[in-house]
Amino acid sequence: MIVMDFMEVICKRRAIRKYKRDPIPEEKLEKLYKALSLAPSGNNRQPYKFMFVKDEQTRHEIVRRACHQDFLYDAPVIMVACCEAGRAFDTAIAVDHMVLAATNEGLGTCWVGWFERDAVREILEIDSDLEIPILVPIGYADENPEKKPRKSIRELVKVI
Ligand SMILES: Cc1cc2nc3c(=O)[nH]c(=O)nc-3n(C[C@H](O)[C@H](O)[C@H](O)COP(=O)(O)O)c2cc1C
Repeated sequence: MIVMDFMEVICKRRAIRKYKRDPIPEEKLEKLYKALSLAPSGNNRQPYKFMFVKDEQTRHEIVRRACHQDFLYDAPVIMVACCEAGRAFDTAIAVDHMVLAATNEGLGTCWVGWFERDAVREILEIDSDLEIPILVPIGYADENPEKKPRKSIRELVKVI
């Protein structure tokens, strides 16, 4: 088990765009499910559902028809987040819990917001009243990207 200090987890996370095809052990996935389930949401409404797509044919169809981002082909899991209309904010909080839990488990992820919602909806038979704000490939990283530049804390934070 990899145990990291929480700030180390935050510092270590990167958008991963190259994955090994190795499957993810079930006990690691269980931790990601738990991280999603423990996230806060307005009125504790938990207005979301998370589809973990492992099936290779389905994953590849999503990438081919909806994403057009080839790096997604190799990731052994694509997590597709669905939520009630207007609840993408709550969903992002839960997904960030999952992304950081994945980092803590030694797994790579990448937030993917640029994809064709209608195609994903059709492939996964997602109800028309649900939004699909984000999807996240999950797998072992096959690259080690440099840290991306960020605005300075002075630019971001104002203490009054
Ligand atoms: C809401 C959101 C949507 C994103 N959509 C995409 C995407 O469609 N494709 C992609 O390759 N990266 C996507 N990214 C990843 C960002 O490009 C990446 O997080 C950013 O460049 C910072 O790099 P880092 O995550 O390694 O720190 C997205 C990130 C967020 C938070």
